[in-house]
Amino acid sequence: MIRTVRTIAELRAHLAGWRDQGHRIALVPTMGNLHAGHFQLIELARQNADKVVASVFVNPTQFGPNEDFSRYPRTPEGDAEGLAKAGCDVLFLPSVETMYPLGAEAAVRIRVPGVADVLEGAHRPGHFDGVATVVARLFNMVHPDVALFGRKDYQQLQVIRHMARDLAFAIDVVAAPTVREPDGLAMSSRNQYLVGDERRTAVELINNLRMLREQAALGLPLRGLEAEAEQRLTAAGFEVDYVAIRRADLSVPEDGGEPGLLALVAARLGKTRLIDNLEFDSA
Ligand code: PAF
Repeated sequence: MIRTVRTIAELRAHLAGWRDQGHRIALVPTMGNLHAGHFQLIELARQNADKVVASVFVNPTQFGPNEDFSRYPRTPEGDAEGLAKAGCDVLFLPSVETMYPLGAEAAVRIRVPGVADVLEGAHRPGHFDGVATVVARLFNMVHPDVALFGRKDYQQLQVIRHMARDLAFAIDVVAAPTVREPDGLAMSSRNQYLVGDERRTAVELINNLRMLREQAALGLPLRGLEAEAEQRLTAAGFEVDYVAIRRADLSVPEDGGEPGLLALVAARLGKTRLIDNLEFDSA
């Protein structure tokens, strides 16, 4: 069984012991309902540190009023079992009161300007404030040497990097590749919401991102490619929030192609909102 701690005092007692022994410490922040993508983060954490802490906290401040906070899947026993198997040392399972001692409404919030305002930020106002706020708290509680995040949440990764750099957190932020199902669908806790034919249709997200990569390599105009991908996804049954070809820093590239681009997509299939992205220079 993995060691599970729920309070900051218990957590710090472990961390102090490890630090006394000169251990390098990794943090893997999660919202639980863990899948192979998360376990890959633990694996990468093990390669980057001597001790690994995973946090499981469904963070209320990053969900909008009409989003899936209350139905977000919570599977603490399965998570603890999976983390133990993956070689995680400590599971930090804080309550809302531990994470937000003054209450979520009174919580000091972190707002990352610019990178947090576009794409996901534009469609989910306040979402990245909640993410940056909770990640900064976790960084302060754990003081890890390294923290790991998945590339599937590409924009989240950029927001956290911006926040960590600007607030002078002495933490290496390491990104892990997206883990995909055999048909290419990016692994996500939200995939289990998909019902009926939706699961088969969901693969069109990555299919369209791959098509965009091929078309962009031919030098076709990027804005037209985005619009066509959006039309294809809509025809397949998605309600599309955005299809966007961007530079690595999420700024908008000129037509004509350049290295280092990626395509990002967010779309709803029935009641399920999915995101994915593909870096064009990746395999
Ligand atoms: O990616 C997630 O699971 C969450 O946004 C994170 C980083 C754990 C913050 O709640």
